[in-house]
Amino acid sequence: MLIDCDPGLDDAIAILTAAHLADLVGITTVNGNVGIDHTTHNALAVIETAGLDIPVHRGASRPMISPTIDASHVHGPTGLGSVDIPEVSGSPASHDAVGFILDMSRSIAGLHLVAVGPLTNIALALQADPDLPARLAGITIMGGAAVGGNVTPVAEFNIWADPEAAAIVFRDAPGLTMVGLDVTHKILLGASERDRLREAAFPAAVLAADLLDYAVERSGEMRGWSGAPIHDASAVVAAVRPELFDGEFRHVDVELHGTLTRGMTVVDQRGSADSTTDAATRVLTDADAPIVIDTIVDSVLALRP
Ligand code: BDR
Ligand code: CA
Repeated sequence: MLIDCDPGLDDAIAILTAAHLADLVGITTVNGNVGIDHTTHNALAVIETAGLDIPVHRGASRPMISPTIDASHVHGPTGLGSVDIPEVSGSPASHDAVGFILDMSRSIAGLHLVAVGPLTNIALALQADPDLPARLAGITIMGGAAVGGNVTPVAEFNIWADPEAAAIVFRDAPGLTMVGLDVTHKILLGASERDRLREAAFPAAVLAADLLDYAVERSGEMRGWSGAPIHDASAVVAAVRPELFDGEFRHVDVELHGTLTRGMTVVDQRGSADSTTDAATRVLTDADAPIVIDTIVDSVLALRP
């Protein structure tokens, strides 16, 4: 697995989840929840906290066309909530995330690309080499929704942050899996998961507990929920354990022009798309939430040194 991400509270927990659940060969970073300096530093801090040796390649510092937006009101000014982010001894392996994604797709058979931030790096990689999807075992994205949004009434953050990039990815990456708000909002982690992590008392588990605490607090303030969707970790689980999720193949396109609807994933719900056609996306709709939640927590706990 290669994760493209913008840590971000849930991205950080996704990295920890993937480090146990998959053979995580690399991390690429993108501007998103916070700026590229923060997202790259945060990725390095997460892997060092967990004692992992995984290369981090820095990627796009701005969207393809859209002005830069962020989600620091959700993830905190640094992207990792109120966590006191440690100094890191490592540095990015390169500033060429796109080149790294393409290299890995050529050198590793069966690579699964999991993109949980704005899709800028992935779109640039597809533009540089349209054969990329054919060399991958799969592409899973956290983004979009068949119904609703979280930045606007109809747009989810990762799509809204770079709609032009998302439109390229949905068009040029046939067969991708979309882990959108339809399913991530059904997988909420809360106090009991936080307690399991905190009681484990090793650095990566405590980090995850701190991140979860912040996410739960923000989710309560913003939505009145008692738990928080850890969207990106759910996407990691969906990539590795697809049998835990329900979904339908649909045609999906991204609205680029609507004054009210820019950044919307327009999901054709009039019937299933033919999964063998180029335009089909597997849109996840439901999950065995208790098992997905346990898988996330158990994966972080399995990182105990
Ligand atoms: C997505 O947006 C970001 O804020 C999160 O990290 C997640 O990838 C949820 O809409
Ligand atoms: Ca993210």
